[in-house]
Amino acid sequence: IRIAMTTDPHRPRFHTLPARNWMNDPNGLIQRDGVYHLFYQYNPDGPWHGNIHWGHARSDDLVRWEELPVALYPTPGSPDAGGCWSGCAIDLGEQVALLYTGFDMGAQRPCLAYGDADLITWRKHPGNPVIAGPPPGLDTLGFRDHSVWREDGQWYQAIGSGIRGKGGTALVYRSTDLLSWEYLHPLADEDIHQRFPLFTGLIWECPNLFPLGDRHVLLVSAWRPAGLEYVAAYVGELREQRFTPRSLVKLDGGDHCYYAPQTLLDARGRRLIWGWLQEERDREAQIAAGWSGMMSLPRVLSLDAASGLRMAFAPELEGLRGAGARWTGLRVDEDRLVMLDVSDGDQCELGLTIEAGETGETRLHVRRSPDGREDTLIGIDWARKTLFVERARSSLNPRAEPGRREIGLAGGADRACVMRVFVDHSVLEVCVNDQAWISCRVYPELADSVGIGLSSVGATSWVASVEHWACGL
Ligand code: FRU
Repeated sequence: IRIAMTTDPHRPRFHTLPARNWMNDPNGLIQRDGVYHLFYQYNPDGPWHGNIHWGHARSDDLVRWEELPVALYPTPGSPDAGGCWSGCAIDLGEQVALLYTGFDMGAQRPCLAYGDADLITWRKHPGNPVIAGPPPGLDTLGFRDHSVWREDGQWYQAIGSGIRGKGGTALVYRSTDLLSWEYLHPLADEDIHQRFPLFTGLIWECPNLFPLGDRHVLLVSAWRPAGLEYVAAYVGELREQRFTPRSLVKLDGGDHCYYAPQTLLDARGRRLIWGWLQEERDREAQIAAGWSGMMSLPRVLSLDAASGLRMAFAPELEGLRGAGARWTGLRVDEDRLVMLDVSDGDQCELGLTIEAGETGETRLHVRRSPDGREDTLIGIDWARKTLFVERARSSLNPRAEPGRREIGLAGGADRACVMRVFVDHSVLEVCVNDQAWISCRVYPELADSVGIGLSSVGATSWVASVEHWACGL
């Protein structure tokens, strides 16, 4: 979905976003008759969060998306009068239903809508809301966002919530017809917040529970009053609708920039995932741009017995590749900067194979101006075994977030590291060994901040190969 021609230097060219205005969470992901449908939180009034509708796009190749009419509108005087908040699609065979959160004057209540054959027109169930409110007797914070699954001929759903004084939770309900729901219990034991060093927030937003390999994965977006935080991925077991986590990782080191992901099991049996990439510049800059937020590129989740959860760019993204270039056997001495002779430095894919080091840092410079006044560093710190993005000099514009992002390499720093990076104007998506991810935003001001280079700190780096492709639709 794009404006056909744009001169906006920060607007992405191959990420999915509506022609204008605000977008947040992906919703209702489903594949029907081979076509991928993506719904999303959308404000038709402008590039800020409010008056939330469900926007709609579809694709048959995961790369080119067609923007369709808005799917869900708030209905005045109904439980969704204040907004149609996040939810999921339910495949009923003949028909598709959407289960979403109706927002009205602070109340958050589950609502249902049924789609026509091409999923363009939606009819809300007259009996909405289908659940009157959180279970009585529980001191909850928030009651929104839905993950639905089917087991033994019944429907189950987990609703995102939090227990005051304890932390985020998801509440499990059961139904035979999607209309009347019986509350069962929290999805996980309360001690989940004591078992892992990573705190997953006061409210779990957008819980998404699904089988992967021989396990279950629970994704939650950890919310704190201070703002959106990050996405937590628990891997564990589901028995009798109770989830026992065995491990917990942060899904993307970009923290709040990559939020509220949802997954889809496609016809090829792949677990695809999209997250909302939000802006990291101030509100005024977003209003001036006329748009805010986009979908991440599609990624594929898998489980590896040895290394746990893995996430890789969907192979279909190779369809974005244009002209390519390749360098091999690069030696990058300490404190030297090796610039690569490329154009399209603001709209490209990079693939690097870097020999493992023991100390120092190997750095990939992107969006660098010739004079170095603007420069973004994507680096591996070999001693600390971390991937980082340093944005202290990414933009001369003080409205842009300059914070550093960092995430552990998950034990993958002892062998050659394969780094893949997509640069799409203000968007960076970085992945190492399909394990460590950082998604974040940079807003260089200078027109010539398009340089790409390599440097080393504290040791010589050996870069076995670098590949560069111009990217576009
Ligand atoms: C997450 C979220 C959801 C909510 C939606 C509202 O970003 O806050 O919890 O349903 O956005 O737009």
